Amino acid sequence: MSKKRIAIFISGRGSNMEAIVRQVQDGILKDVCEIALVFSNKPQAKGLEIAKKFGLPVAAIPSKGKSREAFEREVLELLQPYRIDYVVLAGFMRILSPLFIRAYKNRIINIHPADTRLFQGVGGYEWAFENKLPSTKITVHFVDEGVDTGPIIAQREVDLCGADTLEEVERRGLAAEHEFYSQALRKVLTE
Ligand code: GAR
Repeated sequence: MSKKRIAIFISGRGSNMEAIVRQVQDGILKDVCEIALVFSNKPQAKGLEIAKKFGLPVAAIPSKGKSREAFEREVLELLQPYRIDYVVLAGFMRILSPLFIRAYKNRIINIHPADTRLFQGVGGYEWAFENKLPSTKITVHFVDEGVDTGPIIAQREVDLCGADTLEEVERRGLAAEHEFYSQALRKVLTE
């Protein structure tokens, strides 16, 4: 089976991107995919610097001040020569319109820091913390035309007992995300 070509989309820190890169280099994604591009809608995203240090191709197109369609047309054009099989969203904080989603139908994957059936949008860990949830569920899902409504690929429960600060909730959640996203990707990319 030939390796799938993925583009990872980020908007900031890029810790999930970094975790995926490590698994592609020398872990459970090694025989499964290659990272053709790390892309950001924020030229200053810290994650871009991390990707460069790994020697990966990076690109940024600012989304600020552009309509969704105008921005996405530029991104689609950028992606074309890379022959991307899957777009992997990893902390990409811009909602994608049907224009982009139809171009990569069933080939866009996202990680969401909550159970998408219970909480959609930004702030999944704040939501879990404020509601004093004893546990939360990280969700990896396909992206459809709604916000965090696409078919669920896999979920990972995170125990929040005794996590009495938002920082601790985030720390436990992110640790789970970093391990779990690559596992879920492997599942999709090898099916
Ligand atoms: C992660 O917690 C991710 O699940 C979340 O943003 C963070 C990005 O961190 N994504 C969303 O909330 C998407 N709606 P990272 O840049 O360090 O990977």
